[in-house]
Amino acid sequence: MTIRTCIFDAYGTLFDVTAAARECAEEPGRGKLKECWQRLASDWRLKQLQYSWIRAITNSHTDFWEVTKDSLDFALEANNLSDDQELRERLLSLYWSLESYPEVPEVLENLKSNKLETAILSNGSREMLDSAVQSAKISELLDKILSVDQVKIFKPDFRVYNLVLESFTRDKNEILFVSSNGWDVASAAGFGFKSVWVNRNSEPIDRLPWKPKHVLTNLTDIPLSLIHISEPTRQEAISYAVFCLK
Ligand code: LAC
Repeated sequence: MTIRTCIFDAYGTLFDVTAAARECAEEPGRGKLKECWQRLASDWRLKQLQYSWIRAITNSHTDFWEVTKDSLDFALEANNLSDDQELRERLLSLYWSLESYPEVPEVLENLKSNKLETAILSNGSREMLDSAVQSAKISELLDKILSVDQVKIFKPDFRVYNLVLESFTRDKNEILFVSSNGWDVASAAGFGFKSVWVNRNSEPIDRLPWKPKHVLTNLTDIPLSLIHISEPTRQEAISYAVFCLK
């Protein structure tokens, strides 16, 4: 069956989660952060993911924004920066307008011009996702933004992947799920989607029971061979027949 709908994870896949720490480190007077922004960004992201999984497993859901703040507090302390409250506020405010990866608008435009449906499925809160999408100027290129707010549990709980089927009238095998998170593409494959792992950082594959169907280095090469090129409309078919008869 051909693919009709491309679903994208948000953080790390469309939006660069390291951008807040990197941009902040470039600001004047950020000497201490300049030395450790990469480690801070990595600690922040790792704890953000761990806290989301623990909250899902223990049925202790909270908004992703709370998880993002808690994980930043851990990361600031781990990097001896927890006494700088102004830095904390600045990093949090930058998280609302994370840069998208450079290829994102063109890839989405390409999918839309091939008549595919596009959407985000993310652990992010609806407010966080709306803000990132608007700041990246890609709202016109997305049919839907699906947030775990609707089910109040984080990925990889299957109820989250099921939101896609509730929102689009499609079979599982008409969905292409794209994420840069190995655990996310593995779980989406376990749920029954064809999944694409965007392995931006040349990481080893996760040792989980399910594997992605494709592995790419960025979004540019989303396998177009898999993607449905829409049937001609009735009018296009008639025009083509008339052209052949001439
Ligand atoms: C998301 C995180 C997990 O956007 O990347 O769902």
